[in-house]
Amino acid sequence: MSLVEIAPVVRGAYLARYGVPVLVTPLAEVPTQSASTLDPLAEVPTESASTLDPLAEVPTESASKPQKVSTPADLPQVLADADLPLPGTVAVEVDGQTYRFSARTLGDLTPLPGARTAEARSAASRSAVVAGKVAVVTGGAQGFGAEIVHGLIDSGAFVYIADLNGDGAAALAAELGDRAAAITVNVADEASVAAMAEQIAATTGGLDLVISNAGIVRAGGVLEQELSAFALTTDINYTAFFLVTKHLGRLLAAQHTAAPGWMSDIIQINSKSGLVGSNKNGAYAGSKFGGIGLVQSFALELVEHGVKVNAICPGNFYDGPLWSDPDKGLFVQYLRSGKVPGATTVDEVREFYEAKVPLRRGTTGADVMRAVYYIVEQAYETGQALPVTGGQVMLSS
Ligand SMILES: NC(=O)c1ccc[n+]([C@@H]2O[C@H](COP(=O)([O-])OP(=O)(O)OC[C@H]3O[C@@H](n4cnc5c(N)ncnc54)[C@H](O)[C@@H]3O)[C@@H](O)[C@H]2O)c1
Repeated sequence: MSLVEIAPVVRGAYLARYGVPVLVTPLAEVPTQSASTLDPLAEVPTESASTLDPLAEVPTESASKPQKVSTPADLPQVLADADLPLPGTVAVEVDGQTYRFSARTLGDLTPLPGARTAEARSAASRSAVVAGKVAVVTGGAQGFGAEIVHGLIDSGAFVYIADLNGDGAAALAAELGDRAAAITVNVADEASVAAMAEQIAATTGGLDLVISNAGIVRAGGVLEQELSAFALTTDINYTAFFLVTKHLGRLLAAQHTAAPGWMSDIIQINSKSGLVGSNKNGAYAGSKFGGIGLVQSFALELVEHGVKVNAICPGNFYDGPLWSDPDKGLFVQYLRSGKVPGATTVDEVREFYEAKVPLRRGTTGADVMRAVYYIVEQAYETGQALPVTGGQVMLSS
């Protein structure tokens, strides 16, 4: 059994015992070679893990005797009966190897025994449903992803900013302080996604919320588009959701073996183009429609592991770089190409697009965050695709 299998079970035992999210951090003597041999960690600031500084706050004298398990499957039961101080440390011996972990909560979360604690907290205010939770946001370095990262941090979560642009992710993490950590990942590459899961297990034990947001647009008509552009769009927008769900879902499932009452979430950032076709943009729309098929199917499968799987389908984020970048943004591209008849300025192009939205503006990060809070709070829904489009797309079935 490896750390990536054990750490989430230990975290699950804490979740079950205290009913609040915790950070479970493997202590120094734990062998982490599997994590460090996998590449993205090379660029990930090791200080991001050390700034969590679990040792600083955790009494190390406790739990010095390891909880021994003869078979790995016994681990949840053994931990259910074990001394689990919070904050504190716990040690487990599996297959003759001892693993030590520290556990603490973020900020002022008050650990109270009892399964109803998390539910009571969620009623306090909507954003409080993510307070203290551990989240990962793929494509978190910019655009909607960065908006979601900010929203989660402001709401008291710990956030992994996971992006192909490792420098951008690290810069944002540095700006946000010790509740954020950067992970360099290519979500379309399985080894890279597996390494991300290992790093999360080796830093916080497990996690509560996956935001699968990384995505690209390669517009083009079906009569002209190169297969390579179609395939890249499919790899990043569609196949990567399978990879992210596979590897992070394993952490959530392992955690659930020790915390059967704890629910976690996988949220796919889809698009209005996952609900209606998009002219000369079939690769994108097809990948997004397909994403909803995966969401529905994974929702059915993962319910037994306490994982809800849902999609958010935003409308256009006109303030984000995709649209507003002064050199490469879609507004300036559409102005240059004359796509909007009569428009002579970027503002006129923007007005043309805003007029298509019943609520007369583009989607913002705050609009998406309200949907994230709703999905996390709503314990009685899974497999849904939630439009956040200002009325531009209305569900018909
Ligand atoms: N911008 C919009 O108008 C809009 C509207 C609806 C839905 N969306 C969806 O929102 C999501 C984010 O879009 P955005 O406009 O903010 O994009 P963006 O281009 O501004 O940011 C995307 C981020 O994803 C990262 N990324 C790209 N490929 C990656 C990979 N293989 N592995 C890891 N990270 C990768 C990029 O480095 C970047 O930081 C996408 O899924 C997109 O389809 C966007």
